[in-house]
Amino acid sequence: MRSSGQIEHGAAGVAPSGGETAASAGPDPREAEFQALIDADQRIEPRDWMPEAYRKTLIRQIAQHAHSEIIGMQPEGNWITRAPSLRRKAILMAKVQDEAGHGLYLYCAAETLGVDRAELIDLLHEGRQKYSSIFNYPTLTWADVGAIGWLVDGAAITNQIPLCRCSFGPYGRAMVRVCKEESFHQRQGFELLYALSHGTPAQHEMAQDAVNRWWWPSIEMLGPPDTESTHSAQSMAWGIKRFSNDELRQRFVDMVAPQAVVLGLTPPDPELRWNEQRGHYDFGQPDFEELRRVVGGDGPCNRQRAAHHLKAHEDGAWVREAAAAYAAKHAATTAAA
Ligand code: 3HC
Repeated sequence: MRSSGQIEHGAAGVAPSGGETAASAGPDPREAEFQALIDADQRIEPRDWMPEAYRKTLIRQIAQHAHSEIIGMQPEGNWITRAPSLRRKAILMAKVQDEAGHGLYLYCAAETLGVDRAELIDLLHEGRQKYSSIFNYPTLTWADVGAIGWLVDGAAITNQIPLCRCSFGPYGRAMVRVCKEESFHQRQGFELLYALSHGTPAQHEMAQDAVNRWWWPSIEMLGPPDTESTHSAQSMAWGIKRFSNDELRQRFVDMVAPQAVVLGLTPPDPELRWNEQRGHYDFGQPDFEELRRVVGGDGPCNRQRAAHHLKAHEDGAWVREAAAAYAAKHAATTAAA
């Protein structure tokens, strides 16, 4: 069943918890209660009153996140049939399945805000909701699976651990489970790259090539610079985001730069070096123009990813119809009993 609202990019939608008050004189006391919960670092739950803009921001972010998890299955799924051993194949299958599970938790979290998953998927197909830029890059070799685990999942965890403390309860709780699984994903990527890096010269070269291609897009996926981030200030004031894009970017670089040394691989950034004074790594300027292009639909695989998702969705229509028919039959039997 679909809700009636248009919820793309914060357009109007249904408000399960009352939404905005009708035009009335004076401030709404519920606004003060909401703000008191935020100020006390308490959680907002689906039945609590919330400002419409808070609800729309969450729907936008959670939907984008859910779509990313599902589209993110494509680049790695591409390697399941070509994994070099049974062990690697089993690990990769489990990881790709985990991503599907993350998508489902996240769609469920979005649904507690009064939207329907089917509606969100339609908006994705119409190009009115986004998914992460990072999944628009191709996986050219087996080493890319390792680079995705180490760098992409590494950036994802850096962003998602603070989201466990998101002020909206269902999103924060979904993130706890997601982060546990993502930590495993990052370690498997590190271990895979380590094996390649310490293998034959050809394997080492393959690992280095993958890191060369995934390094900058992973740094860029953490979002535009703070000066260009339209939502950060408000999302941080609401306790949805706990850190800005640039703060998380620095954290990510600080985590992976020493790991690269252990891997024996060289990040493609001549400016990367430890800065004793700052207590952080300095790094070069990411190509935010490229990020804008990829987010805008012009990355190497945008069209391919979107077309694949649409086809899988259409091919799966009979499964959804069968499940709905079964649920209706079951409900009728239960009602008659
Ligand atoms: N890809 C696509 N769009 C992006 C983006 C990226 N890497 N970074 C930012 N954007 C979009 C924003 O959604 C926003 O879109 P809008 O104009 O349509 O509203 C716009 O660019 C401006 O960016 P802001 O910084 O103002 O946006 P946010 O405050 O929402 O911050 C974010 C962006 C940090 C990605 C934030 O939305 C967030 O933390 N999202 C949740 C985590 C998430 O979605 N991660 C995606 C990867 S999931 C993953 O990697 C799965 C794992 O298994 C590997």
